Amino acid sequence: MNLGLKGKVALVTGAGKGMGQKIALRLAQEGCDLVLNDLKEEFCEETSKRVREYGARILTVGADVSSGPAVRTMFERVKSEMGRLDILVNNAGLLKPCNILDLPEEEWDTLVNVNLKSVYLCSRAAAAMMKDLGGGVIANASSFTAVIPSIGLGAYGAAKAAVANLTRTMAGELAPYGIRVFGYIPGVIETDLTKHMREQNLEGLVEPIALRRCGKAEEVADVVVFLCSDAARYITGTLVEISGGKFCVQNAGSVWKRVEAKGS
Ligand SMILES: NC(=O)c1ccc[n+]([C@@H]2O[C@H](COP(=O)([O-])OP(=O)(O)OC[C@H]3O[C@@H](n4cnc5c(N)ncnc54)[C@H](O)[C@@H]3O)[C@@H](O)[C@H]2O)c1
Repeated sequence: MNLGLKGKVALVTGAGKGMGQKIALRLAQEGCDLVLNDLKEEFCEETSKRVREYGARILTVGADVSSGPAVRTMFERVKSEMGRLDILVNNAGLLKPCNILDLPEEEWDTLVNVNLKSVYLCSRAAAAMMKDLGGGVIANASSFTAVIPSIGLGAYGAAKAAVANLTRTMAGELAPYGIRVFGYIPGVIETDLTKHMREQNLEGLVEPIALRRCGKAEEVADVVVFLCSDAARYITGTLVEISGGKFCVQNAGSVWKRVEAKGS
């Protein structure tokens, strides 16, 4: 299938590792030029090296995407150094488990700003550029905590649920300008973000997943890149779960136990 991504310019936030890195690599493989963002420019070194192997033109920008001035400067550079922007992937995110009773106000602000305010800041700046070019695509990382909340993830989950809501609002508001907006909802993906949880209780984590395993960052990247492409041109305002069927039934583990016991 021709995804029609050749020659497009894509900006991926939090592209230094995890899903952001894999999304950037898949976009480069499809012929996109890349703007790689992470908190510090040096965090993008590895991604940058691997993206370059696909022959992509690259701009790396160290910027905290929850900061208005930093985002403004980043988009000024995108405009002056890349000349256009076709795809924005709001991937950067931060997770620090803490129950609400113990959560300090500054931590709440950080979690909400990095996971939610960043989406507003980057999308607003990107949409202004895309509008002048006649269209574009914005992809937002939400989370399964937006579907079913998790203990210890009150601030993170509230921010990710708001991202899901904002995605649909933006899809409606930006449609007349040819800009599509969608969200993706990863389940438990094997990245540094979930390392601690996976080390503590892998069995418990995979129990409610129909496919009974964690996902790989590449598996998320494949879906996100498809949704960013012309092949998905009739999709907007959608939130796509990439979770291996997490909680698609309440008792996913029971059938696995039966099948394993029977040996077939
Ligand atoms: N891993 C999962 O299972 C999972 C599940 C649901 C949702 N998500 C979401 O998917 C996205 C990617 O997650 P991941 O697992 O690849 O995470 P990760 O921790 O592996 O990578 C996140 C990247 O974002 C960067 N980043 C953090 N704060 C930033 C900021 N303020 N400005 C710029 N960059 C910043 C980090 O430096 C890092 O490179 C996140 O939004 C996350 O919340 C992940």
